[in-house]
Amino acid sequence: MKPSVFVAIPMFEEVLDHLRQHFEVVDNQADTLFTPAQLAEKLQGHAGAITTGTERIDAALLAACPQLKVVANMAVGFNNFDVPAMTAAGVQATNTPDVLTETTADFGFALLMATARRVTESEHFLRAGQWTKWRYDMFAGAEVHGSTLGIIGMGRIGQGIARRAAHGFGMQVTYHNRSRLSAELEVQCQARYVSKTELLQQADHVMLVVPYSAESHHTIGSAELALMKPTATLVNIARGGIVDDAALAQALQEGRIASAGLDVFEGEPQVHPELLKCGNVVLTPHIASATVQTRKAMAQLAADNLVAYLTRGQALTPLNSVQGRA
Ligand code: GLV
Repeated sequence: MKPSVFVAIPMFEEVLDHLRQHFEVVDNQADTLFTPAQLAEKLQGHAGAITTGTERIDAALLAACPQLKVVANMAVGFNNFDVPAMTAAGVQATNTPDVLTETTADFGFALLMATARRVTESEHFLRAGQWTKWRYDMFAGAEVHGSTLGIIGMGRIGQGIARRAAHGFGMQVTYHNRSRLSAELEVQCQARYVSKTELLQQADHVMLVVPYSAESHHTIGSAELALMKPTATLVNIARGGIVDDAALAQALQEGRIASAGLDVFEGEPQVHPELLKCGNVVLTPHIASATVQTRKAMAQLAADNLVAYLTRGQALTPLNSVQGRA
């Protein structure tokens, strides 16, 4: 009998067809958002699951689903997984690295450009019928080319942004990361390692690409915002919770920084009401990896991880090393 898997999120039909060649598949094309108790119930009897950031996989769920052997997150970030609990339970965890790197770096740049050059703010003005004449200072923003970009979090996506900034826009790139890049990568990215304080004080634009963890919670709060230039922009394509959104809204309202571009939010899909009131923010609904090609590649990799683990015992992009459940 084929093992059975639960696809907890809506999925490309072609990927479901691929999964059906190997498994009994229960899908969620109805796009239901499950409570933890409903998810545990839905997972009964399944050996594998595909999830994304909205499904929390923790010790309680694992204890309630003894047949579950592998959970494939369709995302590079995996802060919805309690990986130590998964390892302790013998459940394989996987994510989707690499396939979204360049697309996400593109979006980081899109958000930087839109924020610095006030694209959405000026579009709202135009749509509201407020554009009556050209003015020399109308929506004058911040220069991007030739300016200084500070990147916090210099993994694959951060490096992709650095290459775009240095090679495409002649920017000076500084970065801060838990560990310093090799000399070779620093040359490739034309990026200079600095302390977080130095980065915040010197950057014209700050880009956040750091994974979420207890350590990175509120990497940017009021103390950090106070270090930034009043003309600076802040872009968060990392995770909600990396920025203290209430502190950011206050800084934006008080003109302590110029603007922000945010793709991720604390408690998303809720957005802090004070951020919604700010004109000087560009807000997007967690779409940094959203191109058709990349989302297909992520879905395919998540599916391939289930196939590889459940048929050969070896995941393609494992997050943990497990003594698998019997
Ligand atoms: C999206 O946020 C991801 O982690 O892939």
